[in-house]
Amino acid sequence: MAFRNVSRRDAILLLLGASCFYTFSVFLQNPSSPPPSLIIDTHPQPASAETVTETVFTTAALPAPTRVDLGLQKFPETTVVAHAPGWTIFRNLYSANGTLFLLTSDPSHFPPHRLMTSTGLPGNLTNDPQRIPTSREMAFITPAEAEARWGGGPSLNGRNRVSTVEGTTLLFNDPPQFLNHYYHFVAELIYGSWAFLYGAFYEQPAKPLTSVPEPSFNTPLISNSTPKIDRAIFIHADVKGWRDAPGFNGYFMRAVFPSMTIEVSTDWIDRINATASTEIGRAWHFPLVLLTDRSAAFRGAITGQYTQRTAAEAWMTMAKLGKIDLIGNWWASMRGALLRYAGGDPHEDLAPVLAMPDTIVITYINRQGTRRHLRDADNSALVAAMESLVARKNLEGTRKWEFHDVHAERISLDEQVKIAGRTTIMLGVHGNGLTHLVLMKPTLVSAVVEMFIPGGFARDYEWTSRSLGMKHYSVWNDTSFTHPNEPPIPDYPEGFHGPNIPVVGTFVADLIEKHVASREKGEPSVNNSPVYDAVQDR
Ligand SMILES: *[C@@H]1O[C@H](CO)[C@@H](O)[C@H](O)[C@H]1NC(C)=O
Ligand SMILES: *[C@@H]1O[C@H](CO)[C@@H](O)[C@H](O)[C@H]1NC(C)=O
Ligand SMILES: *[C@@H]1O[C@H](CO)[C@@H](O)[C@H](O)[C@H]1NC(C)=O
Ligand SMILES: *[C@@H]1O[C@H](CO)[C@@H](O)[C@H](O)[C@H]1NC(C)=O
Repeated sequence: MAFRNVSRRDAILLLLGASCFYTFSVFLQNPSSPPPSLIIDTHPQPASAETVTETVFTTAALPAPTRVDLGLQKFPETTVVAHAPGWTIFRNLYSANGTLFLLTSDPSHFPPHRLMTSTGLPGNLTNDPQRIPTSREMAFITPAEAEARWGGGPSLNGRNRVSTVEGTTLLFNDPPQFLNHYYHFVAELIYGSWAFLYGAFYEQPAKPLTSVPEPSFNTPLISNSTPKIDRAIFIHADVKGWRDAPGFNGYFMRAVFPSMTIEVSTDWIDRINATASTEIGRAWHFPLVLLTDRSAAFRGAITGQYTQRTAAEAWMTMAKLGKIDLIGNWWASMRGALLRYAGGDPHEDLAPVLAMPDTIVITYINRQGTRRHLRDADNSALVAAMESLVARKNLEGTRKWEFHDVHAERISLDEQVKIAGRTTIMLGVHGNGLTHLVLMKPTLVSAVVEMFIPGGFARDYEWTSRSLGMKHYSVWNDTSFTHPNEPPIPDYPEGFHGPNIPVVGTFVADLIEKHVASREKGEPSVNNSPVYDAVQDR
C-alpha cells in the first residue's frame, strides 16, 4: 500500500484499522420491556357555568398513572441488552463523578470494558494504550457498595441519593475528532445508533401500542418497538464540536428527532460536579442508554480489521441476527423524517423486496468547486456524456431518465435533501457529498458510482451503499470494479485529494447504461446484496 500524501484522517482510519484484531463478541438479551413509567397529567380548563352543559371532558380512557418509585428500593442492577464492540445498550447504568458504574453482583456477565468505552482521547496511530479505559471511565460496583455510597440515611428518611435521567439516552463518548463531519456523524454515529437500537428492540409480530399517545405533529418513526430517544449526550464535544461546517448535523438532528434534548461537554461537567462531593454521595441513574465509543468499535474485527466503519459493528451484529433487513427499510424512519422535513416525498411505501423505479434519476455530486475534484476537461466531458445518455434514453422511451449536475454548495440544505431523496444513481468523486446516499430510497437499480484517482480506494461510501442494499461501483478513469473485487485495504496514492482526477465520461455513461439494462432484463444482482460478507469473504 502506498502512503504518499495520506491525509491525517485517512491515515488514522487506515492504521487504526490495520492494527486492531480483536475477537467479535455479541451479547443479546431478551429486550423485555421496562416497567411503564408513564405519568399522565390532566388539567382540563374549568368550564364556566353557562357552557358546562355543552362541554364533555373525556378523561376516562386514560390509564391510572403508574410509576415505579426506586427511592426506597434496592438499586436495580445493570444489565446489557445488546453489545457489539463500541455499541452497548444498558438498562440501569449509573454514573458518578464522571465514571460509568456497572452495578452488579456478577461482573462476569459483562463484555470487557475496552470493548465498551475508552478514555475518549482523539485516536492516532500510537495512542491506543492511552485510550484503554481505566477505572476512572468505567467500574463495577456491587449492590452493597452502591448502598453504602448512594443509599439514603436517616436525614432523607432512607431515600436513595440517586437521580434518574428518565427515558432513553444516547451517550456518545467519541472525541470531537470526527463528530464535526457530516459523513462520520450521520452515516456512522447516527446510522450505527439507529441500526443498533432498531435491531435490539425489533419484535415480530409488532407489539400493540399500550400507552395513550401524546398529541404530536411528528410522524411516528417506522419501527414497532424502538424506544423514543429522549436525549443525546456528547461527553467530549462542546456546542460547536458536533456540528459540521455546511450545517447538516444540526439540520439532521432537529429534522429527525425534533424533541430530542442535546447535552454537550459542559452539561456533562455539571453532571460530574453534581456527583463529585465526598460529603454526600450522589449518582445518576440511566434506565436505558446506548453507549457508543469509536475507539472501542475499532477494537472489534468488523470495524478494525475489515471495514474501518464504526457503524459496521452495529449494523452487522443486527443483520446477522436477522433484526434488521438488508434493503434499508430499517433506516426508512430517518430518511423519511428528513425528506418530509425538507418538503420532499418521504416515500414510506416500504416493500419487503426492491422494486423497479419509474424514473432513473442520476445525480452527479459535482466537486469542481472544492479541493478534491476531476480534471476540468474530464468534468465537462462527463456532464456531456451523461446528458447525451439521458437524452437518448428518453427517446427510446422505455422509462423516464433525468440527470442533475448538483453543486451542493450552491443550493440549500432542503434542496439537497429533496434531490438526494429522488435519486436512483448517485455519481461523484470520493467526498462528503456522497453521504447524501443515505437519503436514497433503495430500488433494484439504486447504485452509487464513486470516482477515485486510479489506484485509490476508501470504504466510506462503498460500505454504506452496500449496507443499504445498493450497488456500488468504483471508477478509475476508464475502468471500474465492484464488490468483491475491490482492493482489500483502503489506499490513498499521490493525487487522491488533488484537483486532477481523470475520468472518461463515456465510460461512466456506458457503465450506468449497462447497469440499468441488466436490472431491466432481471439479471440477478451479483453480489449486490450487502450481506455481511466482509467477514465471510476474507
Ligand atoms: C497521539 O495522541 C497522544 C495523546 O493521546 C499524543 O500525546 C501524541 O502526541 C499523539 N501523537 C501523534 C503522532 O499525533
Ligand atoms: C466543576 O468542578 C470543577 C472542580 O471543582 C470546577 O473547576 C469547575 O468550574 C466546575 N464546573 C462547572 C461547570 O461547574
Ligand atoms: C471526584 O473526583 C475528584 C477528582 O478526581 C476527586 O477529588 C473527588 O474525591 C471525587 N469524588 C468522589 C466522591 O469520589
Ligand atoms: C484515461 O483513459 C483514457 C482512455 O482509455 C486514456 O487515453 C488516458 O490516458 C487515461 N488517463 C489516465 C490518467 O490514466
